Amino acid sequence: MMRAVEYNNYGGPEVLQLTEVTKPVPKENQILIKIIASTVTIADVRLRKADPYLVKFVMGFWHPKKKTLGIEFSGIVEAVGKDVKNYKVNDEVFGSAGFSFGTYAEYICLPEDGVIGLKPENISFQLAAAVTFGGLTALHFLRLGQTGKGKKILIYGASGNCGTAAVQLAKYFGAEVTGLCSTNNVKLVKSIGADKIVDYTKDDIGNYPNSFDIVFDTVGKSPFGKSVTALKEKGYYLRLVHMNPSVVLAGFFTGLTKGKKVIGGTAKERKEDLEFLRGLLISGDFIPVIDREFPLEKISEAHTYAETGRKKGSVVINVAQAGK
Ligand SMILES: NC(=O)c1ccc[n+]([C@@H]2O[C@H](COP(=O)([O-])OP(=O)(O)OC[C@H]3O[C@@H](n4cnc5c(N)ncnc54)[C@H](OP(=O)(O)O)[C@@H]3O)[C@@H](O)[C@H]2O)c1
Repeated sequence: MMRAVEYNNYGGPEVLQLTEVTKPVPKENQILIKIIASTVTIADVRLRKADPYLVKFVMGFWHPKKKTLGIEFSGIVEAVGKDVKNYKVNDEVFGSAGFSFGTYAEYICLPEDGVIGLKPENISFQLAAAVTFGGLTALHFLRLGQTGKGKKILIYGASGNCGTAAVQLAKYFGAEVTGLCSTNNVKLVKSIGADKIVDYTKDDIGNYPNSFDIVFDTVGKSPFGKSVTALKEKGYYLRLVHMNPSVVLAGFFTGLTKGKKVIGGTAKERKEDLEFLRGLLISGDFIPVIDREFPLEKISEAHTYAETGRKKGSVVINVAQAGK
């Protein structure tokens, strides 16, 4: 048996219950991972609440079909299926379980060709668990926006999980980064490499017309008209929070009439991108930001905090201690 957090009904953080379930056994192509750390992403929060309501059509209409949430993980390989070639017992790994979920548990089985990589030795299990949700998402959108040397980029929501990854990755690609955040987070956003700051409690994106090659909204709070106006000719407006129909329509006309591109959609999680991030973790060009850590038994508290929408970077869940 193993400890796992389950939820049987959609609702508040209290629906998450620590319980005992059967420990999984790896299939031929799977590895059994003893999870050391996981995180609470905003996706976990939304799935728990079935927010938006459409979640129920995917996760189960009356009750969630997958009872254990959790997307990101780091851990140690405890067993491998007979066809597994790339991992062995005791390998330290990290990655994303994606839509399989299930990382709020002591063990998980995942296919070896999943979004999994060897944990860099120079980072902790906690940092390794906090790489994929923000890192892979930011990477996907920064590439779509042709982020590169000398490009001026404004990152809207620079203190969140995706925002802190976006600031660091845009700097790595050679861009001049302006981070938009509140006064509380100015120090943090500067410390991860932002060249300039727009403090949204005192200033406004509307004060920067024709200033950026890319406006990357990582929190879905940027005003459409002002953001497009802040772009230079042929600039990219990247929105990783799903766009409502009026924004999609406005984006379409902006593309037709102003030559500026409005890009949304869902980031793909790819093993080769995880390998790319692994290189940056080793070189120190990307260090995930951790806000708070909670033990697995305090998962409801961790969800309550993440749900405030005020977290900086990631909220980490410590599931076990390495070596125990
Ligand atoms: N399209 C995709 O594939 C994809 C993938 C991953 C995530 N997402 C979406 O991306 C969004 C962000 O995810 P996340 O994990 O980065 O969120 P998060 O970590 O929960 O974001 C929290 C941060 O947002 C900042 N914030 C809140 N209101 C703000 C405002 N008005 N202006 C600027 N910053 C503000 C907060 O800073 P303050 O407290 O200082 O305001 C806080 O640091 C979510 O909606 C998620 O669903 C989409």
